[in-house]
Amino acid sequence: MPNARLALDPSFVVAPVSRRTFGTFVEHLGRCVYGGIHDPGHPTADADGFRGDVIDFVRELGISTVRYPGGNFVSGYRWEDGIGPVADRPVRKDLAWHSTEPNLVGVDEFMRWAKKAGVEPMMAVNLGTRGVQEAIDLLDYTNGAGGSFHSDLRKKNGSADPYDIKMWCLGNEMDGPWQIGHKTAREYGRLASETARAMRLIDNDLTLVACGSSGADMPTFGTWEREVLEETYDEVDLISMHAYYWEKDGDLASFLAAGVEMDHFIDDVVASVDHVRAAQKKTKRINISFDEWNVWYLDGEASKNPTDWPVAPVLLEDQYNVADAVVVGGLLISLLKHSDRVASASLAQLVNVIAPIMTETGGRSWKQTTFHPFAQASSFARGDVLRVEMQSPVHETAKYGAVPALDAVATHDPETGDVSVFAINRSLTEELTVDVDTRAFGGVRLVQATTLHDADPYKTVTVDTADSVAPVANDKTSWDGSVLSVVLPPLSWNVVRLAKQ
Ligand code: AHR
Repeated sequence: MPNARLALDPSFVVAPVSRRTFGTFVEHLGRCVYGGIHDPGHPTADADGFRGDVIDFVRELGISTVRYPGGNFVSGYRWEDGIGPVADRPVRKDLAWHSTEPNLVGVDEFMRWAKKAGVEPMMAVNLGTRGVQEAIDLLDYTNGAGGSFHSDLRKKNGSADPYDIKMWCLGNEMDGPWQIGHKTAREYGRLASETARAMRLIDNDLTLVACGSSGADMPTFGTWEREVLEETYDEVDLISMHAYYWEKDGDLASFLAAGVEMDHFIDDVVASVDHVRAAQKKTKRINISFDEWNVWYLDGEASKNPTDWPVAPVLLEDQYNVADAVVVGGLLISLLKHSDRVASASLAQLVNVIAPIMTETGGRSWKQTTFHPFAQASSFARGDVLRVEMQSPVHETAKYGAVPALDAVATHDPETGDVSVFAINRSLTEELTVDVDTRAFGGVRLVQATTLHDADPYKTVTVDTADSVAPVANDKTSWDGSVLSVVLPPLSWNVVRLAKQ
């Protein structure tokens, strides 16, 4: 059984844990909104039609921010369609997902849902078919104190107090030819800069996110970031990253190393961003909003039927397996390791659409396999993110060459003394004994070690079998008071929690 070693030290601080790392995403897409968070006929629905069972899961996931309302959807969206009496709202074609948008849920409903769910909203404005004016109208509607047309309209629609939304995305994936209103980097950069400038005239206390590339494989990746930031550097705070991973051509070993690809992607974006900082002689640092990330079996996406415009169709309802959960755990490790530059992140998406939570419209709900690593990381990552000194056996992958079997990150809360280690074993076949050296903490005890693993990496769950994949206690530990030895099963997501003695 190969051995690996991790050395922990409270002084190896990367950055404080950003709660915004544990964000997700609700788009008007498929059954994410209708039948997902909103389902008036459901037995647990409240007076606004929001499902209580979904809100309970959201709380259990420990979600911080929720990005809304898209995604590709936002680039053709008129936010005004979603306010005022529901009976008066227009029904529109949603070109992005070839669906019909009934506009039963809009910004006011979403904000009521966010309050009930205890999450911070992250609002996106349409810079595809629309521009500066509609963005500032929306901002005045949400954040204005009153005394102007749009802020008074919000009051008339039932919300006396401003929503005070802080996080705003300036459009979505504007580099993508599939995007409605797709633009060149210079066109988008100018529009984003003017929009940001106008938004700050209304409310200067905003965190504004410029669109980065839709993925590292975009032909304009790198150049896009540079040109957009050359136009927007002074006006924005964050640049977005989006990445989806899935197992291609049966190459499970490479898929399990998706975190390696995410590490490289983040490093490359940081390099592009800091190049502009240097070239423009700025002191301000632009950080990252990784506002779409997940496993998504993109090549399995059903093509949209151009003759049909359904309301809330079944779209992108990927069923996740054990390997997907280990990969999601690896991606969370990558995001945490980069907490000095990744200020915010959103698992895409929340319910039904490439999601950790699934529902039957009007019926039951359940957790997918990927629910667990997210819930554990958001619940136990506290205080500071610590870099770990790691020695690990390596194995060959077709895509990334030799990769370590072990990937890990730790957090330490200086106030409570709690330490959490998050680790994956990427080996398909071998257990890994990891010696965790805790001497630098001067006296800690083991609270709990858990592992998520199954002999079948392709095991998925249904509503009836949801509990059959979940973290369980890992009894294969031994402890000499300073070094904890823990055996990680092959292809597993693991959490070790320590506390002060
Ligand atoms: O999350 C699904 C889609 O993926 C989003 O609408 C879009 O931004 C991305 O391409």
